[in-house]
Order: sequence, then C-alpha cells, then structure tokens
Amino acid sequence: MKRLLLLAFLALQFSCKTSETHKVEDQKIRGEIGEHAMVVSAREEASKIGLSMLLQGGNAFDAMVATEMALAVSYPFAGNLGGGGFMVYRKANGETGALDYREKAPLKASRNMYLDEEGNAVPERSQVGELAVGVPGTVAGIFAVHEKFGSLPMEQILEPVIALAQNGFVISENQQKTLEAYQEMFIKVNKDTILFAGNFSAGDTLRNVQLARTLERLAQNGKKEFYEGKTAEILVDYLKERGGIISLEDLSSYEAVWRKPIEIDYQGYSVISMSPPSSGGIVMGQILKMIEPYDIEKFGHNSLKTIQVITEAERRAYADRSFYLGDPDFVDIPTQFLTSVEYLHNRMKDFTFEHATPSSEIDHGNIPGYESMETTHYSIVDQQGNAVSVTTTLNGAYGSKLYVEELGFFLNNEMDDFSAKPGEPNMFGLLGAEANAIEPGKRMLSSMTPTIVEKDGKLFMVLGSPGGSTIITSVMQTILNVVEFDMGMQEAVNAPRFHHQWYPDEVVFEPKLFDKELLDSLRSKGYQVNERNSRILGKVDAILRLPNGSLEGGADRRGDDTAVGY
Ligand code: GLY
Repeated sequence: MKRLLLLAFLALQFSCKTSETHKVEDQKIRGEIGEHAMVVSAREEASKIGLSMLLQGGNAFDAMVATEMALAVSYPFAGNLGGGGFMVYRKANGETGALDYREKAPLKASRNMYLDEEGNAVPERSQVGELAVGVPGTVAGIFAVHEKFGSLPMEQILEPVIALAQNGFVISENQQKTLEAYQEMFIKVNKDTILFAGNFSAGDTLRNVQLARTLERLAQNGKKEFYEGKTAEILVDYLKERGGIISLEDLSSYEAVWRKPIEIDYQGYSVISMSPPSSGGIVMGQILKMIEPYDIEKFGHNSLKTIQVITEAERRAYADRSFYLGDPDFVDIPTQFLTSVEYLHNRMKDFTFEHATPSSEIDHGNIPGYESMETTHYSIVDQQGNAVSVTTTLNGAYGSKLYVEELGFFLNNEMDDFSAKPGEPNMFGLLGAEANAIEPGKRMLSSMTPTIVEKDGKLFMVLGSPGGSTIITSVMQTILNVVEFDMGMQEAVNAPRFHHQWYPDEVVFEPKLFDKELLDSLRSKGYQVNERNSRILGKVDAILRLPNGSLEGGADRRGDDTAVGY
C-alpha cells in the first residue's frame, strides 16, 4: 500500500513537471503515448528535433544523429561533440548491433601520467583540464551511423540543430543551478571567462553561434572536418597551447567501431546491451542471471528480500567488473565464462537471507567514493519499428570544464575512467586493475548500458541512463520493474532505486523514498545503508511497446527529460 501511494505521488509530481501522463485501458499510470514513433531524451528540444526527422520521412538512425547533436547544443552538461558514447540498435527486421564511439587515450598517454613523484595518483590531473581529455569519438559516431543506416542528407539532419544553436535554447531551472555551481570552476580551468560562465537565469535564451559555425562546417565537409580539417587544427592548437597531448595524428586515426552487443536471456526476455569497452552489458547480464533463480516477483518490488538478492548479485558482479573488464582491443575478456549460468549461480552459493556478505569476503580491497551522474541517454523507435538506444557523455559535468570558445563546445575528462594506478579506485570509487590501465590508443572502461529488450522475438523495450557506475543498476531495476513487477514504462522509470557496487560496501538508496522499517531491517542484517547523500540514482529515458502496438515513453522525472511521440 505504501509503495502504491509513493508511486502515485511520484507520478503526480512527474505529470505536473515535464510531460502529460495518459491513462490507457489498463489503468496503469502511463507516460507519453505515440501510435507510431517516440523519442525520449534529456531535453524537449532534442526530443522534438529527433522526432522531426521521423516526420520528414527519416528513420531512427537519422533521428539518432539529430538528437545527439541537438543535445550537444541544448544539454552541454553531457551532450557533446567533445566526448563519446555507445549505441545499441535493433532494426525492424530483427537485426541487432552496436556502435562504440568511446574516446581513446592519446598516443602520447602513458601508464603513470597521473601519478606524482611518490607514485600516488593525483585525481585532479585526470579530472580537469588538458590532460584529462580523451580523443573525442562522437562526431565519428554520428557519421558512422549515417553512412551505414542514414536515409536523409546530413545537411537536412543538421539544419534544425544549427538553427537551435543560432537562435538559442531556453535555460531551465536545473540548468541555471548547474551553470551557477560550475561558474567559478569554468573560469579557473579556462583561465578566462567563457560563454557558459555568464550569469544565466531560468527562462533566458542561450545562443551558441560558434557551435552553429562548427556544425555548419561538419554539414559541408563531413567527418574529415572534425578529424583532419579546420576544426581539428583549432582543437589541437587550443590543447597544445595549454600543455595538452592530443595530436592531429590522434584525431586522424580515430575510428568508431561496430561491435557485437551482449545478449542475455532473462526469464524468456532477450536483453541486448553494450559490450566492452563498456562494462554495462556484461555486468547487468551477470546481475540478471544471478537473481533469475529467485522469485523476486513474489518477494515484491523493493521488498527486503528483493533488495537483498539484487544487492548481493550487484556486489559480486562489480567485483568481476573491476578485475576482468577493459578495452577488448587490448585485453582478453572471458565474456562467455563471466556470463555463464554455471559460473553465476555458483557465485551466489554463499548468499544467505540471514545476513549481508561483506565485500571484503568477495574480493579485493576497500574503496571509498562514487561515480558521477553526468552522462545522458536517449531512446528512439521509428514508425518502421527500428530502435536505437544511445548513451553519450563528457564523463563529468561539462567534462574537463575546458571549453573551446572558437568551436563552441566542452571537452571530455574521460581519461579518469581509466584506472590511474591499477589496484586503486578512480574518483568514483570503482576499483581498477591491469585490464583498465592506461595505454596509448586504448579505450577506457565504461559503465554505459544502452539496452534493447525483446519479448517473443519482437521489440519490447528501449532504455538506458546516465549515472556512472549506477547506470547499470538503474537500467536493470527499470527492466525488472516492467517484467517482474508489471509496471508501465513511466511508472517503472519513476520508481525509487537503490545501488550497490561492491566497494564502498554500502547500499545507496534514493533519499526519503524507502520505508524506515525496511532500512532498519537491512541494517540489522549487516548492510551499510546510505541514504545520507541526497542524490538521485540514474535518469532513465525509455520506450515500451504496448500490447496494442503503440509506444509508451518513460521520461525521467528526475531531470528535464521529455518524451515526444506521434
Ligand atoms: N563516464 C562514465 C562511463 O562511461 O561510465
């Protein structure tokens, strides 16, 4: 009963804030409904520009390019030209695949580049400024998608995006807050003021003319513009002047890579998600297979037993992540072994409902900290039934905070996703090992989990989330909310979340959303409960295909996220 009240309350909050909710026949609380197509992203402008491609006769891949670039304009917090990402797709004919446009370590990068004379990691070096920047992959990503699957000319796709940069977007309250919070840091890192360091209030219009010019050159000259042309030269000169190490050779040799996604069967649903260099698909698959033998539907949503089973599976999966996973072009990953039923069921053998298993008994050392929320996800289904699930990032909020004024965009700080010193945690508490040590030209390990779920061989759900290490558990809980707990898409996205990542050895709960008695029961069983830090877990943007064939968008109430369909 308490859960129902809570969900009703959350749904009400959502309906007042972002998009309309709809009641369909089943009386579930539903998000935006589209008969034919749907785009859900972190900003209304980006969702609308994506949908406009579909209305012009384009497909989900054209919409992907448009949405990705529109987020770079209107959501510079994570949307980007200076970062990277991953896409998982499922074509209407059932063919699936994945694109890796993750950043790479520059050729001049070296294993110990973030250590001081005593051999200690200096987090600031990998987190802000010129040395934190990985070779950007986003522009290569959109051109790879367009070349393989696009149906509209790139000029037509970029036209509304360029107009958005020129005419500006309206600052939201959330954006005002983050811009204020980072204003000082922008000026410090850039050693000067930048466009985004202005005093903006909610309701102001922010125009980015330099970004419009960069996008115009991309539309005219293609991928080469960014990796070999004028844009490449401006970018390399800019970084060199500041002591950065990215060269023209780094840019000209960058390629996005088509990869085979991870496919896991969970209770008859086929869960298709991102393969390494993201840990998302493997880790989520491991957790799902570890919990599969337990009847969590019967235990109940966010009940004591459900939380225990999921937490213990998460603890074990994140321990494996730290040890085994890295860039598959550099390290051998035992994917089949890690996702095999025998291995995973065996991994849960020492689990008991009596008490928590301490992380120190599962594997390596004791680590503090957490990963950031500053990534963004969007989901698209077009009128033909093609689906794309894309997560893209600068890593931290506004990445390295370095803003190339002449080009109009921020640069990532993705180098911090490497383990600066194998055996020690990165700034987010994720323990790194040899597999994720820095090497020139290597991709850093990610947690991004763009995912598509099939039911009976047909498209069922498209989803993903920002949230660093909490991406994987947010996506997984949203899937479970639908397939185990019978929620609609918006309800599943709204529902309160929790997270465990092996180290630190604690379960993080979204604040004030879980019963005190429940948390006390967990404490009495030896779980460290963390509800102190007022933080949201994930920001899921998702689409569900309903039994009548229409699409329900689930846009996360935790941000400005918006679903638009037709
Ligand atoms: N930078 C966040 C991630 O890739 O997981």
